[in-house]
Amino acid sequence: LNNIAVLTSGGDAPGMNAAVRAVVRTGIYHQLNVFGVMYGYRGMLTNDIFQMESKSVANIIQRGGTILKTARCKEFYEYEGRKKAYENLKKHNIDGIVVIGGDGSFNGAQKFSQEFDIPCIGLPGTIDKDIAGTDSTIGFDTAVNTAIEAIDKIRDTADAHDRLFVIEVMGRDAGYIALHSGISTGAEHVLMPERKTEVNEIIEELQANERRKKLVNLIVVAEGDETGGANEVARRIKESCPQLDTRVTILGHIQRGGSPTCQDRILASRLGYAAVEALREGIHNVMIGVVNDKIQYTPLDKAVKAKQEIDPEWFKIVKILAS
Ligand code: F6P
Repeated sequence: LNNIAVLTSGGDAPGMNAAVRAVVRTGIYHQLNVFGVMYGYRGMLTNDIFQMESKSVANIIQRGGTILKTARCKEFYEYEGRKKAYENLKKHNIDGIVVIGGDGSFNGAQKFSQEFDIPCIGLPGTIDKDIAGTDSTIGFDTAVNTAIEAIDKIRDTADAHDRLFVIEVMGRDAGYIALHSGISTGAEHVLMPERKTEVNEIIEELQANERRKKLVNLIVVAEGDETGGANEVARRIKESCPQLDTRVTILGHIQRGGSPTCQDRILASRLGYAAVEALREGIHNVMIGVVNDKIQYTPLDKAVKAKQEIDPEWFKIVKILAS
């Protein structure tokens, strides 16, 4: 192993920079040449590849976004695109790649590593925490903390006006941001794609809450929930409970930015280091995660977006604690 490349792909997530830094510094420590690829797989196709030094990653551990930029690259889905990428990587004699991204990015890496002789290591980087083979993903903890901070502020104004707020958080296919931020802010209901929620039941409860003069209600909805998001939930509540002063807040991309939390910096640093060590040991084509505080390798084709079972006990907790 002599020359490795690192790239960030798919949606950015806070902590990606900390992971890039860890890959670069660990690689240089082992006297490898480390190359950065700009804009994810797109940079492989356009040969936007440059050699990084230790100081290229100075002062980035605390920064959100990604200094390597990111993109979703359609051409890489096609064999011709991957071939072009391979040819460009060969120009730099790259013999190992670290891809920081989500399951779509691992899918690309999996195909690439089957077709060509350059091993790939995937690191889970997404705010959604929707990847099998790891207890958390780089960016999740920061995104949840950003959501909590915002929801706490909403609670202040909800309380002042006795209002009901329906708050939409990110999570296209997974409701972890909703579940964690909902429990942490004392929300009455959490709606997420992994579990069907009857809006009618929520409406009945809201009416009961009103009778017992519980006037502040927070409902946290994952954007991917089957009910159709916060606007739809609020529309149905307004229809049945016109007396409630109902408002909607969609938190949106604020959840993707900002300085990573300690937990995300540690996860990213640990995984970035582990990625280089794995390549050096000849461990190929796996995603590296952390399970029960231990490094775990998952073959790239198994590191997929898994609609995971959510223990129903969590919803009991939501209900009991908000009652
Ligand atoms: O996968 C991360 C995520 O933020 C999802 O939660 C969200 O649905 C999606 O990306 C938004 O994508 P985009 O930034 O392309 O609008």
